[in-house]
Amino acid sequence: AGHQEIERQKWSFSGFTGQFDKAQLQRGFQVYKEVCAACHGLKRVAFRNLVQPGGPEFPEDAVKELAATWPNQITDGPNDEGKMFERPPLLSDPIRGPYHNDNEARASQNGALPPDLSLIARARDSHREASWYIHPFLMLGDILNAYQEGGANYIYALLTEYSDAPADYKLTDGKYYNKAFPGHQIAMPPPLSDGVVAYQDGTPSTVDHYSHDVVAFLSWAADPSLDQRKRIGWQVILYLIVTTGLLYLGKKRIWKNIK
Ligand code: HEM
Repeated sequence: AGHQEIERQKWSFSGFTGQFDKAQLQRGFQVYKEVCAACHGLKRVAFRNLVQPGGPEFPEDAVKELAATWPNQITDGPNDEGKMFERPPLLSDPIRGPYHNDNEARASQNGALPPDLSLIARARDSHREASWYIHPFLMLGDILNAYQEGGANYIYALLTEYSDAPADYKLTDGKYYNKAFPGHQIAMPPPLSDGVVAYQDGTPSTVDHYSHDVVAFLSWAADPSLDQRKRIGWQVILYLIVTTGLLYLGKKRIWKNIK
């Protein structure tokens, strides 16, 4: 609520034919891993999802290695002695954040709760909230473009619109002024600054690029079958057009002797 004046960004995945950009998703994951993962989990994404088609599509070996060295262990058990134990995640395990539960998170974050980011791009899409009735018509939503990018535009704005508070604004201790956040004061310190993530592919290391990339990645996390859905949508439309033509010709033929 109250996300006024959120500027619309250009996203590869928006519109009728838009698809995720694999290289961008890879960079976005790098930003998540090196910056956001210090506070936020991604528990509805499993490591193996990073390998699957339609996402960042990292090589499986690289992701196995990534899981084996992920700082947040998985609580498993009970073992033969009836005890719970911690172990490194496997490909099938969720990408856990640094905290075991909300209390632990709040205790380390001054009482604020860094939300799990798996579905945040959907959760912050006010269009999506407003238009629940088009959920059964995902393709239509994509056509209307009122659908999968509202949350992306908002999170981009959130990451890039930190500033000093206006002189007449009373900022609570431990909060940061942010023009995009409803109420304008947020407990999240500005997470990004130029140069904090070293990209390997020549993309400039700027807050603008980091933000676009991590938001694209979070959009994929919240809607991992977008590419496939749009491709199938087109195939269905094509199929229906061809079927319509065939039925029409068939009808003309069957009825051709009747005046
Ligand atoms: C909240 C994204 C890094 C701590 C949030 C929200 C988003 C987000 C989308 C929800 C805002 C809302 O409710 O509308 C990100 C991204 C990051 C990042 C993409 C990396 C680029 C961090 C880091 C920390 C952190 C490093 C800890 C130092 C928090 C906290 C909140 C929050 C405490 C709750 C804020 C509040 O409710 O006032 N973040 N975050 N975040 N984040 Fe982050």
